[in-house]
Amino acid sequence: MSLEQISADETDVAHDEEFPEAIRAIRTRRSGHNFDPDADIDDETLEELIRDAALAPSSYNLQPWEFVAVQDDERLEKVVELAYGQEHIREAGTAILVVGHTEAETADRVFDEWEAAGRMDEASAEQTKAQTVEMYEDDRTGRDYGIRNPSLAAQNLLLSAHARGLKATPMIGFDAEGMAEFLELPEDKIPVMLVAVGPSGGEEPERLPRRDVDEVLHRERY
Ligand SMILES: Cc1cc2nc3c(=O)[nH]c(=O)nc-3n(C[C@H](O)[C@H](O)[C@H](O)COP(=O)(O)O)c2cc1C
Repeated sequence: MSLEQISADETDVAHDEEFPEAIRAIRTRRSGHNFDPDADIDDETLEELIRDAALAPSSYNLQPWEFVAVQDDERLEKVVELAYGQEHIREAGTAILVVGHTEAETADRVFDEWEAAGRMDEASAEQTKAQTVEMYEDDRTGRDYGIRNPSLAAQNLLLSAHARGLKATPMIGFDAEGMAEFLELPEDKIPVMLVAVGPSGGEEPERLPRRDVDEVLHRERY
């Protein structure tokens, strides 16, 4: 995207920015519906997108996410069908399902890492792990964790794609049960977000208005 295509609003970065390119990326990211049907991302790019996604913050660094990338034409066709015919997925060439854990399956390893890094002593690592595992065991809380954390990974993925000049679209317009079955997710894993990603096929329609800061920011209390 050239600077001329970015409105004044979007280039008017915060006065105290330390990473102006990051602010610019946040302000110019769009969901893509216009992909180049003749170009796909390569393996290295796919891996870098996932590396960036996996740098998202997560509760106690549990990283309760995984990613299923579908690029095979026939399989992509099925993903389009499960997404109620959203054709931009086919044109993007890559569909990545962001998957969430509903159980704290990384807890042993991660709390060992907290301890090994000297950031928790053995007793507090054990105690915090037990509390975390217990929270995940509650169906509602486990599901909340399994959606909240991977949603941040999905946003990283979108911004990483944008930073690389690619387009990406987050989607929940799909048959979640059908998708879980098609991609053979284990019982304790849930589909969080489907992200279509690929090279751009041109401009997107102008962005719809965003609600004003005054309307969404509450100070001290709602
Ligand atoms: C949770 C969520 C679900 C979405 N589902 C779809 C979808 O199924 N199909 C689609 O084309 N776009 C989907 N979108 C993209 C939104 O339409 C888009 O983010 C919104 O219109 C704002 O546009 P922008 O992302 O270009 O700023 C979804 C976005 C989010 C965050």
